[in-house]
Amino acid sequence: MLLQQISELVQIAGDFAAKRRKVLSSNEIHTKSTDTDLVTDVDRDVEALIVEKLRELTPEYGIFGEETGKSNADAPYCWVIDPIDGTTSFVRDQPFYCVSIGLRHNGIGILGAVYAPKLGELFLAEAKKGATCNGETICVSKISDLRKAVVATGFSCIRAKRKFDNMAFLPQIARATCAFRRTGSAAIDLSYVAAGKLDAFWELGLQPYDIAAGEVIVREAGGIVTDLSGAAEYPQKGLLADNGAIHQNMLSFFRPETGIRFE
Ligand code: IPD
Ligand code: CA
Ligand code: CA
Repeated sequence: MLLQQISELVQIAGDFAAKRRKVLSSNEIHTKSTDTDLVTDVDRDVEALIVEKLRELTPEYGIFGEETGKSNADAPYCWVIDPIDGTTSFVRDQPFYCVSIGLRHNGIGILGAVYAPKLGELFLAEAKKGATCNGETICVSKISDLRKAVVATGFSCIRAKRKFDNMAFLPQIARATCAFRRTGSAAIDLSYVAAGKLDAFWELGLQPYDIAAGEVIVREAGGIVTDLSGAAEYPQKGLLADNGAIHQNMLSFFRPETGIRFE
């Protein structure tokens, strides 16, 4: 029942965002932590729409939203919201953006919903019940040969001017794999790993709201999510999500011996 309600909510929110994009004006576009960290009035309005509905549906649950922060977030159940993941894509009218709503119970992801309105893709997952895309069951790929793997990443660490730089990992990984993608939405990248459209996604400097829904979708589709040392301290120590078959190969790119820091 709750998954159905969240499925409807994430679609309403995504379609609302896509409609507002048609009339987006430059005075609705702002910057946040740095001059390249964009946010729009639509991000804020989408989060307000989601929060109002979630408070109605589950008044006792906590909420942690990218734009409005934490409210009762220490409650056992907490919603984690990214109203528009891929805001730069949204601003430039590119299709790779989505609404992401995750639910955590005592910090563990148990439900995920990601809706990309311009791609027409709705990814849903609930703990122990599998993952779907547009109602069809999805599962990670079976690719075990790195040379055949298609991988994705992002560069929020550069935008956030963090002390570590994901670019340092890229040359070796790009040369060792079949192809590399950079969609601009971590939540879509995670959903694409779950659907077998990508075989691995990694990034440094992500926030809980970027990944709260996507990590549940990956796991329920048979994938693995760890930090870049293979432990569970993600996303603060980086994040690696993949089909499991290439997990050890991917972790090898982030070994301490490389001398490249990720935290
Ligand atoms: C960003 C996107 C991007 C990722 C950044 C995120 P936002 O989210 O997920 O792909 O590389 O780390 O911040 O800012 O568009 O919600
Ligand atoms: Ca995000
Ligand atoms: Ca966002």
